[in-house]
Amino acid sequence: MCPESTYKSEEELIDQLKNKKETFWSNESLKPYYTLEKNLPIPTGDLHEAEKLLQRFTPYLEEVFPETKKMNGIIESPIRGIPSMQQELEKRYQQSIPGHLYVKCDHDLPIAGSIKARGGIYEVLKYAEGLAIKHGKLTKDDDYSKLANPEFKQFFSNFSIAVGSTGNLALSIGIMSAVLGFQVTVHMSVDAKEWKKELLRDKGVVVVEHDRDFSFAVNEGRRQCQEQKNCYFIDDENSKDLFLGYAVAALRLNEQLKQENITVNAEHPLVVYLPCGVGGGPAGITYGLKYVFGDHVHCYFAEPTSSPCMMLGLATGKHEDISVQDIGLDNKTEADGLAVGRPSALAGRLVENMVNGIYTINDENLYKLLALLHESEGISLEPSALAGMYGPSSIDIQQQLGHMYGSRLSHATHLVWATGGSLVPKDIMEGFVSKGTSFLREEE
Ligand SMILES: Cc1ncc(COP(=O)(O)O)c(C=O)c1O
Repeated sequence: MCPESTYKSEEELIDQLKNKKETFWSNESLKPYYTLEKNLPIPTGDLHEAEKLLQRFTPYLEEVFPETKKMNGIIESPIRGIPSMQQELEKRYQQSIPGHLYVKCDHDLPIAGSIKARGGIYEVLKYAEGLAIKHGKLTKDDDYSKLANPEFKQFFSNFSIAVGSTGNLALSIGIMSAVLGFQVTVHMSVDAKEWKKELLRDKGVVVVEHDRDFSFAVNEGRRQCQEQKNCYFIDDENSKDLFLGYAVAALRLNEQLKQENITVNAEHPLVVYLPCGVGGGPAGITYGLKYVFGDHVHCYFAEPTSSPCMMLGLATGKHEDISVQDIGLDNKTEADGLAVGRPSALAGRLVENMVNGIYTINDENLYKLLALLHESEGISLEPSALAGMYGPSSIDIQQQLGHMYGSRLSHATHLVWATGGSLVPKDIMEGFVSKGTSFLREEE
């Protein structure tokens, strides 16, 4: 069974979360987009500015990351229909999924192989551009491929960048900063996988290992950076730039859907399922999607049963003032990217009237979905990235959508955001698949 909203009060909801019962929370504060757009704390014009900045950097990105050449220096991932997985899900959960199921392949995003690549790379590039312009080395009309010259590496080596992460943000910031020439330090939470740390060390990144969770790693990183001269901290809990970097995905998705002749309007809803950690990635994308598609897009977030920080923050209205540890959860999950105990202050407030709902999923089910997707579609994802795959089978979500669209739901496009996986070493991925397969066999 997929998670269901069986609670009657906030207390009962918290009890379910405490007991790690898979749960669906419906957002009663959802508002029509036209009532929100005038007062957004981040003006939507900034989204187009972010897109323009990424455009200016395309000659540079093509130069230093040749794998981006085929996309002309744009860091973007494709969308892909997954009809076999749709059938598998329908069979498995005995729940029909009216419409078509697609996956957004951010696991294949160039350079850092995860949803965090967009935001992380954007903020590093923005910082680099600002420094180079301030010191008279660059104008916005220049060909940015000149940033690959040794003179620029030398210049950026006078500055340092730091970040706190569960792994994937560190990969994107570490890789991008090191290539530009910055000194870069990543503060890794206890959840961060060994291979991510090794990969970063190989690129010349300083990796600081913390034996506590994400919020601690971020606080420590912020504190240590503040004590240094010329250190710039990229703050996954509060950064507007990271947020805008994630949000750019919506503008790109709009183009991709058009290319695939997929319509989004009152007759053809778009339903998007996004794994959520601290919230910046999914909230940034939701903010962008609402700007592009208004009320024709419906966004659902997915969190591990051990780390439902965004659900807790939104359901109680306490946002960053409450953590999963406050209700007795351990914040321990195999979904390392989602192992976050306290939600982002910025992200939660930005989406409190935009996100349709949030559900939780346990680790065993993440692994089962991992194996099912691998078998049915040949797509390999890391455990965190499967959280979104549960949503289309949720009876609550289908009922919500059914109330809104009735039989028109058969025209829906369901888009599961596959948030990471292509950099996972082969042997580790094989281990994930066989673990998921064993869980599936145990059921038989
Ligand atoms: C694979 C993966 N999916 C989803 C997320 C969630 O993003 P956020 O922490 O911004 O909510 C992360 C975060 O690191 C991640 O690594």
